[in-house]
Amino acid sequence: MKDIKIALLGLGTVGTGVVNILEENKLQLEKTMDARITVKHIFVKNVNKDRAINTERYHLTDDINDILNDHTLDIAIEVMGGIDTTYHYLKQLMTSGVHVITANKDLLAVHLEELETLAAEREISLKYEASVAGGIPIVNAINNGLNANGIKHFMGIFNGTSNFILSKMALEGQSFEEALAAATELGYAEADPTADVDGIDAQRKVVITSYLAFNQFMTLDDCAVEGIRNVTSTDIKLAGELGYTIKLIGQAYAENDRVEASVKPTCLPVHHQLAHVDYEYNAIYIDGSAVGDTMYYGRGAGSLATGSAVVSDLLHVIRYIDTKLHTLPPHFEIESKALDRSRH
Ligand code: NDP
Ligand code: HSE
Repeated sequence: MKDIKIALLGLGTVGTGVVNILEENKLQLEKTMDARITVKHIFVKNVNKDRAINTERYHLTDDINDILNDHTLDIAIEVMGGIDTTYHYLKQLMTSGVHVITANKDLLAVHLEELETLAAEREISLKYEASVAGGIPIVNAINNGLNANGIKHFMGIFNGTSNFILSKMALEGQSFEEALAAATELGYAEADPTADVDGIDAQRKVVITSYLAFNQFMTLDDCAVEGIRNVTSTDIKLAGELGYTIKLIGQAYAENDRVEASVKPTCLPVHHQLAHVDYEYNAIYIDGSAVGDTMYYGRGAGSLATGSAVVSDLLHVIRYIDTKLHTLPPHFEIESKALDRSRH
């Protein structure tokens, strides 16, 4: 049985979901993976905060060096958010051979290319299923399920918070402010919900999805963006009377190495399938050259939904570690940390 040692960076909405899933399914996961999975450190801002989980069995720390200097770690799971400092931590961990899983689309929309290059150079795994559409396995669908297809177009609802707000306004007559407060309370909104309501969170996810679907890196500036801040209850009502539903739609088309991408409030005919995706749910259409239209639907935000995507990445990484171990001569198969690491 392998020993897999993990550091968790962040114990908020998503981090708590990850710990809950790992605790709940520990025996089954360890049996399936033939691995003992230990969360060695959890990095947080405030070690004294009241938490929804029992933290006595974990080492909580506010000192990142406990993690950066722990040369026994196999995997870092980053669910803390932030861009510059977090990028610096991840780069340092990856450079020393630690596999990385992240849910952080803010960071990936800016640094995905460098991180992918670093992961390839170091022959480590970089996984980010939770960064697009929360619990929907969309990264896996594009990378694996659709890998026999060329993809030229995708379209969908990429932000749970803004969809939740639009649904609350349309279906329950709530105000924008009431609905945003509820989305924040439920853990769907970002720490700063500006990114949700101004379409920037969806824009980041469109940038990441474009890379996956078209194999082309683009910048945030390449994706035009408009959020839902100016959508009023009157707009929603009038659209409804004309047979339309307003949704925040992200989409991208690829044509001759050019990608056209946008995020904007869009009137969809009520019979359109995306018109019936409500509350925190996301849904994404992908047009595959062989398979035709496909659609992926599920919870786009929230603790357990997002935790599900992160733990799925964890299992993929453990499998990858296993594969690497078994490509080494038998006398090297001592433990997972015997992998190629510059620090050894
Ligand atoms: P939260 O704000 O709920 O949690 C953030 C966690 O990270 C907290 O535990 C916080 O510590 C810790 N943290 C933040 N900054 C620092 C820092 N500078 N040093 C040490 N610890 C820090 O965020 P979420 O769980 O909602 O989101 C985490 C990531 O996952 C983000 O990148 C987000 O975009 C992404 N994501 C979120 C989803 C969701 O539904 N919420 C869905 C998909 C992705 P403390 O607890 O002490 O404050
Ligand atoms: N704030 C994001 C949303 C979380 O509402 O979709 C999931 O990425």
